[in-house]
Amino acid sequence: MNKNLAKYSSLLVTGGAGFIGSNFVINWLAENAGTMINLDLLTYSGNLMNLTSLKEDQRHLFVKGDIGDRELIKQLLEKHRPHAIVNFAAESHVDRSIIGPETFVETNVVGTFRLLDECLKYWNTLADDDKRNFRFLHVSTDEVYGSLDEADPKFTEEKQYEPNSPYSASKAASDHFVRAYHHTFGLPVLTTNCSNNYGPYQYPEKLIPLVIANCMDWKPLPIYGDGMNVRDWLYVSDHCDAITAVLNSGEIGETYNIGGNNEITNLDLVKTICSILNEISPSSHGNYQELITFVTDRPGHDRRYAIDTTKVETSLGWSPNESFQTGIRKTIEWYLENIDWVAAVKDGSYKDWLNTNYSAR
Ligand code: NAD
Ligand code: DAU
Repeated sequence: MNKNLAKYSSLLVTGGAGFIGSNFVINWLAENAGTMINLDLLTYSGNLMNLTSLKEDQRHLFVKGDIGDRELIKQLLEKHRPHAIVNFAAESHVDRSIIGPETFVETNVVGTFRLLDECLKYWNTLADDDKRNFRFLHVSTDEVYGSLDEADPKFTEEKQYEPNSPYSASKAASDHFVRAYHHTFGLPVLTTNCSNNYGPYQYPEKLIPLVIANCMDWKPLPIYGDGMNVRDWLYVSDHCDAITAVLNSGEIGETYNIGGNNEITNLDLVKTICSILNEISPSSHGNYQELITFVTDRPGHDRRYAIDTTKVETSLGWSPNESFQTGIRKTIEWYLENIDWVAAVKDGSYKDWLNTNYSAR
């Protein structure tokens, strides 16, 4: 199941050159006949190499630009008249939000607000049927709910927001604007709050691709604190399917939690990656686990995230296709097979980031 054909034949996607956005764009165009405008600012994590497979696809129109550029948004909406918008664009890395929070406010809060505001103006010009069918789907995170202790129940959609990092605070603010634009102006919005994604095209600042890339170079694998923080991991294509399901059949104004039911500590996760690599790509240096290095913790580091997926499963019939065991193996194989992508991404500003984030830890 899960392979929902989209109800919408013209989509505007933002952030579609990033990790989840590019997976969504590729999957959507493979499964649907419609057209897609892909607006992305191409910040450090946006990468046109992610979209190489769409080069010949006339249904995909890439536009370089900012979700906070009102004039551009207005022009795109008037010219292409999309049936729905899926907003992936964001600053997405918690560590960067600790070192430089301002761009998180600019993009995640002000950018999302301006995008919403221009959408509202566009939506108000639509004919009744188009107005009824239009959707603004905002892609958000489970981090807005705060941190769980070991024995706490998983996050439901009713959980109070308690964001702890500048990243999650900025996402929480954007979620509130999305909610308010529905409540006050009637804009037909949907919000998804998802757990940690992994898979192809993820920028190697995030734990899983960082660990794979460092193993490939026989470099230390930095584990923050005691390594006992718990995350719930979802394979990226399953997240993309969930977004399509919410877009097709989600109830206007509702939020949907999405997760993989795969809770694991960071230490166990890194050990799992090492043992798969020991098996499929052994190193002449030795066992990859020798590279595990405990480093100074992330300030304000959330202890545990866990997602209750009852709502999306029972009301929309979505559930993940990939288990953690199959998904992580596929992911590792993808990075090993795409050495050129990894090498290109690791050039330039990536080295500066490693220096900024890890040299003093
Ligand atoms: P990413 O950093 O890989 O991609 C973000 C994309 O947004 C990049 O292509 C970037 O160029 C673009 N972008 C940034 N600022 C922009 C702006 N002002 N205007 C237009 N484009 C801009 O992030 P990701 O991991 O793919 O996350 C996508 C979305 O999903 C984010 O909203 C994030 O909060 C959310 N999310 C991510 C995860 C995860 O585990 N990665 C989990 C849940 C939710
Ligand atoms: O939960 C959803 C969120 O997951 C998304 O909203 C974010 O966009 C996404 O980046 C991710 O946030 P995390 O902070 O959980 O992901 P990250 O990969 O940065 O870290 C995962 C865990 O690993 C976290 O507990 C911190 C730890 N970690 C991370 C890095 C980069 C390390 O121990 N060492 C590292 O070098």
